[in-house]
Amino acid sequence: MFAGKFANLKESYTFDDVLLLPAKTSVEPKEVKTDSKITRHVKLSMPIVSSPMDTVTEAEMAISMARAGGVGIIHRNMSMNQQLTLVSKVKREESLKIRNVITIDPDTNLEEVRSIIKSKNIAGLPVVRGEKLVGILTKRDLLFADPGKKKVKDIMVKDVVYAKDDISIEDAIRILYEHRIEKLPLVDSNGRVVGLITAKDIVTRQKFPDATRDEEGQLIVGAAVGPFDVDRAVNLENEGADIIVVDTAHAHNENVLKSVKKMRSAISCDLVVGNIATSKAAEDLISMDVDGLRVGIGPGSICTTRIVAGVGVPQLTAISEVADVASEHGIPVIADGGIRYSGDLVKAIAAGADAVMLGSLLAGTEESPGMEMIINGRKYKSYRGMGSLGAIQVGLSDRYPRMGTSKYVAEGVEGAVPYRGKVEDVLFQLVGGLKSGMGYVGAGSIKELKEKTVFTKITANGLKESHPHDIRIISEPPNYQLFQL
Ligand code: XMP
Repeated sequence: MFAGKFANLKESYTFDDVLLLPAKTSVEPKEVKTDSKITRHVKLSMPIVSSPMDTVTEAEMAISMARAGGVGIIHRNMSMNQQLTLVSKVKREESLKIRNVITIDPDTNLEEVRSIIKSKNIAGLPVVRGEKLVGILTKRDLLFADPGKKKVKDIMVKDVVYAKDDISIEDAIRILYEHRIEKLPLVDSNGRVVGLITAKDIVTRQKFPDATRDEEGQLIVGAAVGPFDVDRAVNLENEGADIIVVDTAHAHNENVLKSVKKMRSAISCDLVVGNIATSKAAEDLISMDVDGLRVGIGPGSICTTRIVAGVGVPQLTAISEVADVASEHGIPVIADGGIRYSGDLVKAIAAGADAVMLGSLLAGTEESPGMEMIINGRKYKSYRGMGSLGAIQVGLSDRYPRMGTSKYVAEGVEGAVPYRGKVEDVLFQLVGGLKSGMGYVGAGSIKELKEKTVFTKITANGLKESHPHDIRIISEPPNYQLFQL
């Protein structure tokens, strides 16, 4: 028997320690629902989130993640203004009704209009005299305009079709179709232009039916902030960020808790705080009225925290402990780090997570900001920990404590991951694996996967048996790539 500090020592598990037991089922994988939540108010049709890392999530990744039904969290290893620009880029990518519509006066010169259209990259402009809508001018009208015509009023369409601001999208589609037009200005009761619906936006919307969007039809986006950066959080919310993620390696810290309290009262959008790995941390953060918890101390593929600091909790145990507390309060849990295959994702959710956060699996995609490189004839993209020397030197020094002024104690590494093509293809494989797992255990929904699943503990031999064995793999499927540099 063990004594002292080792009496009643608790065993903790991670992905390779367990498997889910198959169960009798009537659930077919193609029928399962993967809807979940990342925060109290943000629903996802796919429980996957991209990590706020500087080799993973900028605007392009966040747009692709939201269109696929997940969400991206823009990293914070840049100036506040740069981060605001990226958030605004995601928010402006799609919208049901364009606000702040650019309009022109009937007496404007056509040359000026051509330059507005080019610089703002727009295809048509409502024409307004005073505040009243009097016409519309599109790129097409300019194309074959008689060179003698110099002003907007000479060539604009005067009997402009418009609608009231509260028109439904279905009615707008009908009007656009009936009149064979592509732009529908929206006016208030005084005839002032207050919005614009375009056929292009409607087509985009139909192309991504599962996208994570807000009430205005804009893509939902999250943004990371340092634990003490209340000012940045407020500005990001004002720019349109839907979720603020307080990004620190150890959120169960008195100073962080104090700052989270300030941040909570300064912003009204959803607030996710992490990272944590214990039930006590979950309780303390939930009492601060957070909307989501980010779980994981040291499981990430680029993390050295457990090796450098000797601290951490194997990820499945961490998820399950936090989820036990969080589920009582209806607070979603994001399992962050360590996911290598779709099976890990299934296990994370079965252990209690509502969504998973990915770094490595997304860093190799076309949409990540990392650098491409060829090593031994194979394509890779750079990927680094936010506590790596490279990331800290760019500016992010408060996620991991800085000891002294010129030297750093890194808690992450820098490297490269195999190129994986488009995000949507990677997500397709991950969601496919999730649905397959749900089919095996008989879970028709994420809720059922969390509630019904029974784990079995496996041995090292069980793990060995789980991977392909006694074969030289000649052709790698997209969802099982061996890592060789
Ligand atoms: P994966 O396994 O998806 O993990 O690549 C991504 C997560 O790892 C965390 N992260 C770090 N953890 N040192 C750490 O200990 C680091 O330098 C570091 N950088 C990122 C983070 O939670 C991320 O989402």
